Order: sequence, then structure tokens, then C-alpha cells
Amino acid sequence: MELITASKVHLPEIKRIAYETWPATFGAILSEKQIAYMLDWMYSIPSLTSQIDEKGHVFILAQEGDEYLGYVSYELNYSGLPKTKIHKIYLLPASQGKGVGALLIDRVGEIATENQNKALLLNVNRYNKAVGFYEKMGFNIVGNETIDIGDGFLMEDFMMEKPL
Ligand SMILES: CC(C)(COP(=O)(O)OP(=O)(O)OC[C@H]1O[C@@H](n2cnc3c(N)ncnc32)[C@H](O)[C@@H]1OP(=O)(O)O)[C@@H](O)C(=O)NCCC(=O)NCCS
Repeated sequence: MELITASKVHLPEIKRIAYETWPATFGAILSEKQIAYMLDWMYSIPSLTSQIDEKGHVFILAQEGDEYLGYVSYELNYSGLPKTKIHKIYLLPASQGKGVGALLIDRVGEIATENQNKALLLNVNRYNKAVGFYEKMGFNIVGNETIDIGDGFLMEDFMMEKPL
């Protein structure tokens, strides 16, 4: 298995993985309408392009042979702080529970450290079982955040942080 930095040619693949993974992840937590709204907002090709070009997000893909298993995206020096924000981490259902998520988090941690960042940050839906995964990876819950994302939808998140 290889971890590669994604370029624009990989955006349709990232979108495909999200559309395959989100219903299984959020089907019991969010309405179908909210899932469709959020996927369109975050994973249209123009939105992904602007995340990379304008917002400084970097995507890493986990690749096995000619298949992509999932991705993580991160942003160094988030909000001008020496901290790295993990914006997204999603693995195809068949690739979960095999250690790939831990490898992706560790790789982002290494890159953050190389860039003098002292912590990893992320937001996670309060009802997502990934909270347990993050705790296992050394993150602590440091706050709650409810974000109005428009169209009457809310994101009800925990904020988590892992010191490096
Ligand atoms: C969350 C996710 C990225 C984790 O990656 P993963 O490859 O499945 O997790 P790993 O196999 O690397 O697990 C690493 C460790 O965490 C533990 N772990 C995994 N999920 C856990 C959970 N829900 N609760 C507690 N521990 C968990 C594993 O047992 C493993 O422990 P070990 O090192 O003692 O064996 C992945 O499952 C995923 O993509 N889920 C769906 C999408 C999602 O929810 N993304 C997060 C959005 S904020």
C-alpha cells in the first residue's frame, strides 16, 4: 500500500469514494437530504478544486495496485496557528478496520511535525463512531461546535485535538 499526494486528476476518484462511503457512515445519523446537500457542497469538482487552490488543503490517497482505498485531507497552520487541521478522512467500507486510517493519521502527523506544527485538530459528528477511533489515535475532545450550513441543516460536532 502506498500513500500518494493527490493532484487534480484524482478529484473524480475522491468524489467517487465520498459518494460510496457517506451513506454507510451517515445513513443512521443524518437525513438523506442533508447527506446529498453536504456531498454536493464539499465534493463537487469546483469545490474540491477550490479547497486545493484557494484554501491550502492537501489530499493524500491510499493506493493499492491501481485501486484507491480512501483519502485524508489536511491544512497546515490552520487559522494562523501552529496546528494542522484534518478536514476529511474517508475509507471505502471494504477498506475500513485494516489499519489504513491509522496510517493516514500518522502520515499527517509526520508532515505536521516536519512543518513545526504542534497539534492535529479535527471536527467529527458527535454521533459518528469514528470518535472512538480518534480517541484510540490520541485525540481528546476539546469542545462542541454546532455549525449552521444553510438550508436548515446543522453540523453537530465534537472538536478534537491531538498534541504532537
Ligand atoms: C474512521 C476511519 C477513518 C478509521 O480508519 P480505519 O482504517 O477503519 O481504522 P484502523 O483500522 O486504522 O483502526 C486503528 C485503531 O483504532 C481502533 N478503532 C477503529 N475504529 C474504532 C472505533 N469506532 N472505536 C474504537 N476504536 C476504533 C482499531 O481497533 C485500531 O486499534 P488497534 O490499533 O488496537 O488495532 C474509517 O473507519 C472510515 O473511513 N470510516 C467511515 C468514514 C468516517 O467516519 N470518517 C470520519 C469522518 S470525521
